[in-house]
Amino acid sequence: MSDKTETNSFAIAIDGPAASGKSTVARRLAERLGLIMINTGAMYRAIAWATLKKKVDVSDPEAVVAMLAEIAVTCGVKDGESSILIDGVDPGDALREDQVNARVSQVAALPEIRELLVAKQREYLKLGSLVMEGRDIGSVVFPDTPYKLYIDASEEVRLARRSAEGLTDVVSKRDEEDSKRKNSPLMVAEGATVIDSSEMDIGEVVEAALVELQAQGLAV
Ligand code: DC
Repeated sequence: MSDKTETNSFAIAIDGPAASGKSTVARRLAERLGLIMINTGAMYRAIAWATLKKKVDVSDPEAVVAMLAEIAVTCGVKDGESSILIDGVDPGDALREDQVNARVSQVAALPEIRELLVAKQREYLKLGSLVMEGRDIGSVVFPDTPYKLYIDASEEVRLARRSAEGLTDVVSKRDEEDSKRKNSPLMVAEGATVIDSSEMDIGEVVEAALVELQAQGLAV
């Protein structure tokens, strides 16, 4: 699929490991550039949350895939950002709970789940230009976009950022599972510029991102 529509909408792809700061950077960039911000991790989290609600065993791929036929997954935009409803319900803060953290990588490794969500992610381009963050945006969702960043940070810094948010997260375990999986693993996409944010504050990361996007040809 092309990364541009007849309306010339484009996508900025931002990938990186858990808690690298990519959501905050994506949100700030979207505000600065007047684009829609799409958080694809929330989409995988919503499916993981649905398996909890429906008491589906995530170690049974067939059961997880069968669940897809029984739930309505509705993606939209609210206040300039992506939103997701499962059977009309917004899971809200429950998406970041430990139980969801613990099973989301397993859910995200299933090709049927990825196929469904990648199609929904590409649909967003019809609504306008996007900043989309995740793990496979530059490699799989919009491989032809010229605008690609990979936001990294040391594991120590990423753990500290999560705990500053009052959250516990198994970031290294999730990263290992997300990097090792067969389908669309976490990787630096071809053509992506890596920004190591370990020693930067969020404002510095946003400025560095704007410089790199300009070098990739974006009019900022
Ligand atoms: O960005 P996040 O930590 O909220 O993402 C949650 C999980 O979803 C992550 O562990 C891997 C998966 N994910 C994915 O496989 N592909 C994406 N594009 C986004 C997230």
